[in-house]
Amino acid sequence: MEDNRIPRHIGFIMDGNGRWAKKRGMPRNYGHTKGADVFKKCIDWCKELGVECATFYAFSTENWNRPKDEISGIMNLLRRYIKDIRKTADNDTRIIVLGDKSRLDKDICDDLIDLEEKSVNNRGFTAGIALNYGGRAEIVRAAQLIANDCVSGKISPEDIDEELVENLLYTSEMPPLDLIIRPSGEKRLSNFLIWQAAYAELVFMDVLWPDFTKKDLQSAIEEFAARNRRFGGI
Ligand code: IPE
Ligand code: IPE
Ligand code: MG
Repeated sequence: MEDNRIPRHIGFIMDGNGRWAKKRGMPRNYGHTKGADVFKKCIDWCKELGVECATFYAFSTENWNRPKDEISGIMNLLRRYIKDIRKTADNDTRIIVLGDKSRLDKDICDDLIDLEEKSVNNRGFTAGIALNYGGRAEIVRAAQLIANDCVSGKISPEDIDEELVENLLYTSEMPPLDLIIRPSGEKRLSNFLIWQAAYAELVFMDVLWPDFTKKDLQSAIEEFAARNRRFGGI
């Protein structure tokens, strides 16, 4: 495959954990555990295939509507994951958290800030983790930051353009989003990267996230490579 046929930035909607567990007569959190394993492997697959950056949707602003025990199960997986990356000293991956960390438990929030700070100069790969993330909330946050700068006189409303908004999104230091992959058979974005998705290619797959393999990733990238991206041109 030619290099421009490889997406620079892929967004993954890691969906289908609950149904995967249910099919096996297991509790939903068993599915999340398996899903977390695939998440870790998927970072390696992306690196092996030459992708520069991937953002993983791990917990949405709407996922707070789930039962308490499911939420605490997901948060404990996150704690385990943070410990894991701390142990791998040879890491060349930069971690960027998308979403409002302050609503997470304080230990998780502090550890995530620490991970982001310690990995800020890693250049091998960028992994975004969307946690308590919502695309609408992200745009509202940017609007508030802009409004503050207008009120303080730092900028005037005429200065507001797409570039200014983009610089205030969580993805400001990532390459443009080229591709979104959603397994599980659902065909919607569920509030994931809605601004950034404006010209991303969307690939929906029936496989449930815990069953997602490197082959599935390759076939999504092949589909991406075969698409004709026009960006409004001809
Ligand atoms: C995605 O899997 C993981 C999170 C939203 C945290 P789900 O838990 O949504 O799995 P399904 O959609 O119920 O199968
Ligand atoms: C989207 O999946 C959120 C994550 C994968 C973290 P959901 O399972 O929450 O989405 P809906 O409810 O089916 O739209
Ligand atoms: Mg789901």
